[in-house]
Amino acid sequence: MPETAAAAKPVSYKELGFVNTREMFKDAMKKGYAVPAYNFNNMEQLQAIITACQQSRSPVILQVSKGAREYADATLLRWMGRGALEMMRELGRPVPVALHLDHGDTFELCKSCIDSGFSSVMIDASSKPFAENVALTRKVVEYARPRDVTVEGELGVLAGIEDEVSAEKSHYTDPKDVEDFVKKTGVDSLAISIGTSHGAYKFKLKPGESVPPLRFDILAEVERRIPGFPIVLHGASSVLTSYIDMINKYGGKMEGAAGIPEEQLRRAAKSAVCKINIDSDGRLVMTAMIRKVFAEKPGEFDPRKYLGPARAELVKMYMDKNEKVLGSSGRY
Ligand code: G3H
Ligand code: 13P
Ligand code: ZN
Repeated sequence: MPETAAAAKPVSYKELGFVNTREMFKDAMKKGYAVPAYNFNNMEQLQAIITACQQSRSPVILQVSKGAREYADATLLRWMGRGALEMMRELGRPVPVALHLDHGDTFELCKSCIDSGFSSVMIDASSKPFAENVALTRKVVEYARPRDVTVEGELGVLAGIEDEVSAEKSHYTDPKDVEDFVKKTGVDSLAISIGTSHGAYKFKLKPGESVPPLRFDILAEVERRIPGFPIVLHGASSVLTSYIDMINKYGGKMEGAAGIPEEQLRRAAKSAVCKINIDSDGRLVMTAMIRKVFAEKPGEFDPRKYLGPARAELVKMYMDKNEKVLGSSGRY
């Protein structure tokens, strides 16, 4: 489906009721937790994220990728985000919500999101040489700052696919670069590469091998060089065995899937890591539940009967993450 013009006239996220990430990260840094950044592409994912975070009393960053905007239509997605805010207000006791562009790859895409009501954008120029990364990130910051929109930059490259940025191999962030990058670009937060990667197959493990630990030494050195600066972890799904087993049991084929152990993420959340990005875990939950319904009730053809159980399980999974992994529950 083609992307429609997101908005004829620029609209500020403030009119829509979103917040930027500045205060969220300040609180997360002070209290030693991470704000969840969950991706959505459709109504059920969005409802589950909002419901879980409202019930958890957790702030939340709603993430929209370039692919999500193309899939669901830029205008519709923005209004879905706004609708979710309204729904939350009507239920009472809303929590802070940021609407964030995930892995923006051009200035034009970031500008389009800012103009259509996003409160935060990521410009991911991490696969470019340092100077080019700085220049593009700086350009986005210069557009975002007068509009009070927060900007996330990235240094280092995660293995796997970063939207359209394909990386054969990961390059850990070099802590020597971070001070210079933050100073030259003026970003509000920085995504770093310390061993996480995108997708459900993060490690190729031989039988008997376990997942290698994250590079907490790099994280510590980054924190030493830019103390108190909000750090972001991408590729932080844990690829939970229970859902992989369910997928395989009900006709799927996901052998060798592996993610980041939850205890490592919990440790990261207590540090300067203020935002943890999770998408694949949500996809796995939906797939597992839909497969289960199809296997157990082959005659079912009402989408509400398989998307509904998937949504209910998503709520549980997100609440669990907030409580046990990110530590973001009960903050509001
Ligand atoms: O980091 C990437 C996110 O998981 C979004 O993925 O581009 O397939 O929507 P996507
Ligand atoms: P996962 O694929 O590990 O869920 O990572 C998501 C992400 O980093 C979105 O930006
Ligand atoms: Zn990512």
